[in-house]
Amino acid sequence: MTHPTLGLRPKFSTLSLFSHRWSDTRCPYCERRLSILVSYDSCNRAVFASFQATIVFPIDFGIAKAQIAIFFSGAHPMTTPQEKPANPKFSSGPTTKFPGWSLESLSTESLGRSHRASAEKAKLNKVIADSKTLLGIPDDYVVGIVPGSDTGAFELAMWNLLGERAVEILSWESFGEGWLSDIKNQLGLKNITSFAADYGQLPDLAKVDCNNDVVFTWNGTTSGVRVPNGDWISDNRQGLTLCDATSAVFAMEMPWQKLDVTTWSWQKVLGGEGGHGMIALSPRAVERLETYTPAWPLPKIFRLTKAGKLIGGIFKGATINTPSMLAVEDQLAALVWADTIGGLGSLIDRSQKNLAVIEQFVESSDWLAFLCEEPTLRSSTSICLKINDPWFTDATDDDQRNVVKQMGDLLAEENVAYDIGGYRDAPPGLRIWGGATVEATDLQALMPWLDWAYASVKG
Ligand SMILES: Cc1ncc(COP(=O)(O)O)c(C=O)c1O
Repeated sequence: MTHPTLGLRPKFSTLSLFSHRWSDTRCPYCERRLSILVSYDSCNRAVFASFQATIVFPIDFGIAKAQIAIFFSGAHPMTTPQEKPANPKFSSGPTTKFPGWSLESLSTESLGRSHRASAEKAKLNKVIADSKTLLGIPDDYVVGIVPGSDTGAFELAMWNLLGERAVEILSWESFGEGWLSDIKNQLGLKNITSFAADYGQLPDLAKVDCNNDVVFTWNGTTSGVRVPNGDWISDNRQGLTLCDATSAVFAMEMPWQKLDVTTWSWQKVLGGEGGHGMIALSPRAVERLETYTPAWPLPKIFRLTKAGKLIGGIFKGATINTPSMLAVEDQLAALVWADTIGGLGSLIDRSQKNLAVIEQFVESSDWLAFLCEEPTLRSSTSICLKINDPWFTDATDDDQRNVVKQMGDLLAEENVAYDIGGYRDAPPGLRIWGGATVEATDLQALMPWLDWAYASVKG
């Protein structure tokens, strides 16, 4: 069956759409009668239609003269998989809640109370203490809850600590690039050395001089590339290491002695609520805080010292500004879950098993590959995949992004996977979260659906 206009090859074409009603109509090109299923969004806009399982119409009715993109194929692409993931949430942040989580099981006694009241402050301190214990953070490190999620925590670290000496900055994806840009353009530091690498790669860690301050991301969430370990960081360094580890902490082993500043957020590996960040400081980082005053002003929510002394309360639950006690309860529940399943080792193990499911699938796939080709650098949390089929790679960037979007829409429509399109600045592809709260069985169930979605779009 060859479509008179579009031909058999699946195409991504934009056509003016007949303007009459959708039901019971004929394709203006091949005259076939269409029994169309149209879905409407909450604004009553048609967002998706399909018919006879051979043509998929992603529709944008937001414009008066509607245009449609038609993927045409002569045959039903493949059998629809039977089993769906029990939980289709594979977003890279906020990530899915831990198995068994429920809103009802959270304690609500602290809601409506001052976060400075003793019981509430104790809960904040418990998040700090339990995180420290679970992660094996050395006793002489201080850990605090700070505003603004991981972004807040990392900016706070950079604004407080950088400028004392030259800075080495490693970037290999969007977040590292963001820190580099802020160091250059916001803090205006000139004495910097940048080590950059493309998506899928890592810069040469052997070149980094740890006598300067070193700024890096442990796990590049948008490329799925992580540093393999901390061996490249000298134990006798003069500089401080500032590490954005938000998509690594609770899923990867962290060599704390190599890290002077580590930041993460609740919404990542433990699947907590957004808004709050955590910062862990080594004794040398605290010493820098107490002995160095940056040349720029510090907003109140960044201030960790007063009159040259660390504000100790911040590291015992007296947060700089008001936290959400509901988010605190949620984080405490996540920490209990993490402890119950066996602690850090189990969290790491779960994430590794999730990566293994995808590795096994990719190995036998003729269209999917890892963005990070080197297995030892591959993230087990933000698992980034590229499509290496010539049909896809020969297409323009826009068309590639459209294909990925169509796949994402189809999978979401089927309630099979939400939020698995790659990051907007990354090469077009898929990103599937494999952190500790994701069940390997759900990933197993998802895998055949990836084939299904790709075949459906490709035709
Ligand atoms: C590596 C990295 N840094 C920073 C952020 C920003 O985190 P947040 O939204 O918690 O501030 C993210 C979020 O995905 C991230 O992955």
